Amino acid sequence: MSTPIPQPPGYFLVGNISDVDPKDSIGSINRLSEKYGEIFKLSLFGSDRYFLCSERLVQEVCDENRFVKKINAGLEQVRNGVGDGLFTAYNDEHSWGVAHRTLVPAFGPIGIQHMYDEMYDIATQLVSKWARSDPEDSIHVTDDFTRLTLDSIALCAMDKRFNSFYHEEMHPFVDAMSEFLVESGARSRKTRLELMLNRAPTVRYESNIALMKSVAQEVVDRRRRIPSEKKDLLNAMLFGKDPKTGERLSDDTIMNNMITFLIAGHETTSGLLSFATYFLLKNPEALQRAQQEVDDVVGKGPIKFQHMSKLPYIEAVLREALRLTPTAPAFSVTPKPGTTEPVIIGGQYLIPPNSTLICFLSKSQRDPGVYGSDADEFKPERMLADKFEKLPSGSWKPFGNGARGCIGRPFAWQEAILTLALVLQNFNVRLADSSYQLKIKQTLTIKPDNLYIKVSLRPGID
Ligand code: HEM
Repeated sequence: MSTPIPQPPGYFLVGNISDVDPKDSIGSINRLSEKYGEIFKLSLFGSDRYFLCSERLVQEVCDENRFVKKINAGLEQVRNGVGDGLFTAYNDEHSWGVAHRTLVPAFGPIGIQHMYDEMYDIATQLVSKWARSDPEDSIHVTDDFTRLTLDSIALCAMDKRFNSFYHEEMHPFVDAMSEFLVESGARSRKTRLELMLNRAPTVRYESNIALMKSVAQEVVDRRRRIPSEKKDLLNAMLFGKDPKTGERLSDDTIMNNMITFLIAGHETTSGLLSFATYFLLKNPEALQRAQQEVDDVVGKGPIKFQHMSKLPYIEAVLREALRLTPTAPAFSVTPKPGTTEPVIIGGQYLIPPNSTLICFLSKSQRDPGVYGSDADEFKPERMLADKFEKLPSGSWKPFGNGARGCIGRPFAWQEAILTLALVLQNFNVRLADSSYQLKIKQTLTIKPDNLYIKVSLRPGID
């Protein structure tokens, strides 16, 4: 006997559309999971989605022998801009394997170490900007972290300088990308008729895609015109060969991956740094401990690559921020192709083949069965290496799962440790408005909304 999976009552044809606020779908799903528990189903225009909100269910569906990544309706739309890029490629798409195998070494430990000096260059631009600000200036911290992460991935991966710290406005790529992601999500909820009757958003959508492609094309053209010896992702894509088949990436796949890296490589890390800053400012003891660690390990001198593995508390802060506020808040899986019978999960829930199972990290990573009654609190101590390594495997999945997990994780990690350490080394930081309460801004990723800080240079730093 299986246990029925709860579902809120819906309406004819549109199903549960009114249960999800498109501007705050994370909040809506959180509220539904408070009401329905570890699993519930929503039906949207005839397609069913199962939301998994407990560690044990997420752990089970991360078994790659039984489940694979699902390109859900939102990602299907993102393919309009980035096609077979690694993030949106279908599991059986030949070009995914070619690109994955060609690029894994470039994202490996040696590849990332090669990128350290350029990451440092960009991170010090943020420090210089903040150092010039008046201690009473309010800094929009997420915007500056977005400048940093965009410039960093563009410089490290493809030798392109966006120089975002030298302009008031963000590079047009950022707005185009942000609108493209929001509209991709919106399109996945629209009917064909709506898309046909209201063309204006589609026209804008297409012009945003064209802008992103032109930025990527310019970078590729320049590298072909002016070759470089750099061991970066662009050279790996242009000249690397798949170690298994000997094939090279096609021009289309290169373009799709360039845009993918620019998108995936900055939004999420900028959100991570912003949330980590917020949590530290709301938890003065953790802030003090993190700053003390930087002082003890690095002192006032330059932060070097060798320091990256010697800042365990900073790492714990970042892990805990990603646990409470996973900047990619969910990922989807489905029973393996060829599954023809319904599958049982959790020993009790019957799931039809082909269904979309959404690992809803914002909830599963707060499972009180794993993290206790204080699961909603920010406590980096529980993420120190000895405890972190003993956590059950489904309890911390902010970088996704298995072969389709995040290829950029080592890049993001190095960038986040370096940036947080540099900020704490150089500045005393406080909230611009001490009564600020966390609000979430959501596109495909999440960030704190309207988070402003004030900074002052620490004594002895000039
Ligand atoms: C995949 C999260 C940083 C590139 C993923 C997935 C998650 C994720 C959850 C799996 C998505 C799914 O299953 O549908 C994050 C987070 C980051 C981060 C939280 C930062 C804190 C980066 C960076 C890059 C990157 C810096 C590039 C430099 C990618 C790519 C994929 C991916 C290309 C697709 C991999 C594949 O399927 O082959 N990421 N990511 N990510 N990420 Fe990241």
